Amino acid sequence: MTLYGENKVNGKKLIGAMLTILCWLPFQLQGEEEREPYDDRYCTTCHGADGRGNFGVQAPRLAGMEPWYLKRQLENFRTGIRGAHLKDIEGMAMRPMAVQLTDEGIADVVEWVGDWNYIPAQVTIEGDSAVGKQLYSQCATCHGDEAQGNEMLGAPALRGQNDWYLVTQLKNFKKGWRGSESLDNYGQQMMPMAQILADEDSINNVVSHINTLGKN
Ligand code: HEC
Ligand code: HEC
Repeated sequence: MTLYGENKVNGKKLIGAMLTILCWLPFQLQGEEEREPYDDRYCTTCHGADGRGNFGVQAPRLAGMEPWYLKRQLENFRTGIRGAHLKDIEGMAMRPMAVQLTDEGIADVVEWVGDWNYIPAQVTIEGDSAVGKQLYSQCATCHGDEAQGNEMLGAPALRGQNDWYLVTQLKNFKKGWRGSESLDNYGQQMMPMAQILADEDSINNVVSHINTLGKN
């Protein structure tokens, strides 16, 4: 496997490859006849059977996600633009899943996920949504007044996503665990925006406001 050659050089990648193999093994061991038509459709193991997200493994909702954003994130995880920072534990869990996808595999997965019914994510965090609304006015420029997303600007919908996941991502952007990679054009636009949120309370407040905006 070419993966091994690369991984001699880079410890991060080695962990990635080990995770890949560990996660991949059960699927390899499955009988041919029991397999889904596409081997790449293992996403629900972590993201939940209906794609509504899984707090236990910190994997977010995929059902209802914009196809362009889903595609970009899979490509970013695959190249290591996302999920390669050693402190980004959740991103590092996702990365090996994308590493094994071909372009065709990504196209297929995006189409497949596009067929899933949207299921609203539950509210799990507490914050002052009125204060958060003020903060959100600075986010709306890119993510839209209703957090519906803006494809032209590459900013995804935020409403309807698991609130705990939005909190994690804002912390990750703030710490530069996401968005500091030089090839991450979109993440680099988002990273300075997360600095607007001074502390954990501000993060919870803005996400509480997003929770009031309904579903994607
Ligand atoms: C081993 C568990 C696991 C599997 C299997 C898995 N993922 Fe993930 N995925 C995660 C975790 C954990 C995260 C959160 C990463 C983070 O916090 O940055 C994630 C994040 C994502 C994101 C980023 C979402 C966003 O809003 O930015 C996308 C897209 C994604 N996964 C798609 C997929 C697809 C498609 C598959 C199947 C091909 C898949 N995942 C398989 C664990 C998994
Ligand atoms: C200059 C435009 C811009 C502004 C302003 C902005 N964002 Fe973003 N945001 C983006 C882009 C672009 C991405 C996608 C990054 C990527 O592709 O990895 C993003 C991604 C995110 C994500 C990750 C979503 C996911 O599914 O992983 C969150 C959460 C987020 N933004 C919240 C906010 C909040 C809260 C604010 C206001 C404090 C804000 N953004 C302001 C452009 C912006």
